[in-house]
Amino acid sequence: MNREDFLMFENNKDLIYFDNGATTFKPKKVIHKIVDYYSKYTANAHRGDYDISLKVDDEYESTREVVRKFINAKNTSEIIFTKGTTDSMNMIVFGFMKYYLKKDDEVLITKTEHASNVLPWFELEKELGIVVKFIPLTSDYKVTLDNLKKVVTSKTKVISLAHVTNVIGDIRPIKEISEYAHSNDIKIVVDGAQSVPHLKTDVEDSDIDFLAFSAHKMLGPTGVGVLYGKQDLLEVMHPLNYGGGMNSFFESTKELEYKELPLRLEAGTQNIAGVLGLKEAILYLENIGMDKIHEYEVTLKKYLLEKLKDIDNVEVYNPLSESGIVIFNLKDIFAEDTSRYLNHYNICVRAGNHCSKMVKDEIEVKNTCRISLYLYNTKEEIDKLIEVLKNSKNIYDIIL
Ligand code: ALA
Repeated sequence: MNREDFLMFENNKDLIYFDNGATTFKPKKVIHKIVDYYSKYTANAHRGDYDISLKVDDEYESTREVVRKFINAKNTSEIIFTKGTTDSMNMIVFGFMKYYLKKDDEVLITKTEHASNVLPWFELEKELGIVVKFIPLTSDYKVTLDNLKKVVTSKTKVISLAHVTNVIGDIRPIKEISEYAHSNDIKIVVDGAQSVPHLKTDVEDSDIDFLAFSAHKMLGPTGVGVLYGKQDLLEVMHPLNYGGGMNSFFESTKELEYKELPLRLEAGTQNIAGVLGLKEAILYLENIGMDKIHEYEVTLKKYLLEKLKDIDNVEVYNPLSESGIVIFNLKDIFAEDTSRYLNHYNICVRAGNHCSKMVKDEIEVKNTCRISLYLYNTKEEIDKLIEVLKNSKNIYDIIL
């Protein structure tokens, strides 16, 4: 789909890129937007009264509106620009939950979460004495409402889940979980790093309290992301950064006042080029249509799974997950060796534990190769992968 829009394909003729869960290629429009900002109207945001600075304000704030619409938030004040999902998750945990939760309160996650939805909670557990508990998964590593209910107690205050997990690639029933959570006075935090780039996201319909996602996994630049929070929750969030841009005044008497949302949570000069690039990425995705993107990825994934069945020494660990993520190993071969072998043929996959170090407790395999598909991947690329995997008997001749 639309491969001609990506310079990476123009500049790397035979490259097959299957590591979109790690990061994605950028369409020309995104790159041009960033180059334009640096070459035609560089200025800071919210600080100048001259034309190019006003243009930057316009571009920056209109991105907030584009993001708002993209995830169907109520107000632009609910959209905070951050450095990425990890930054957003840390703001949720240390800027909000640290003040909201108390000792013995319980937070539910799963063993298939990414580090950024695990480690902030583990740290808060040490700091406050909250208890982080794991939702048991089904035999195909999914979260169901029934399983979730088994670990909810009167002390459960938060459920924090990836909408799509980055290794298993299962899609969680967030709306159903959120309905149940809210009827039990439980907050719902969603790590959208692997879902927002691939699925239509509607924070209002799913009634999500907090959502975190990154631009670079959705055709945008690195170093920029979004924290969405319901207005009343963000109102009481403590900034993790204090400084310029977020205060209205301060005096030597120590009198001070901070700005309203969203600027109160955006201290310091932000990644302006990144934010502008994110706008172009969202417009690009919307132009194709999120439903069409998801459908396309599912078709490709089915094709890939069918083709993998023809290879006897391949073990796929997540055949029943619904997203464009497939994890596999060649029998008796280290995942990293398979990845290096594929690299020899210009095929990029990720190997290892994929920043989700507890997944091994569920799938009982420490390291896997991951194929994560996106809109520009093709059946021809999958055919090439299959051909190379079929010839993998000579793997150690190639990589040693
Ligand atoms: N979180 C990214 C991944 O899953 C880096 O690869």
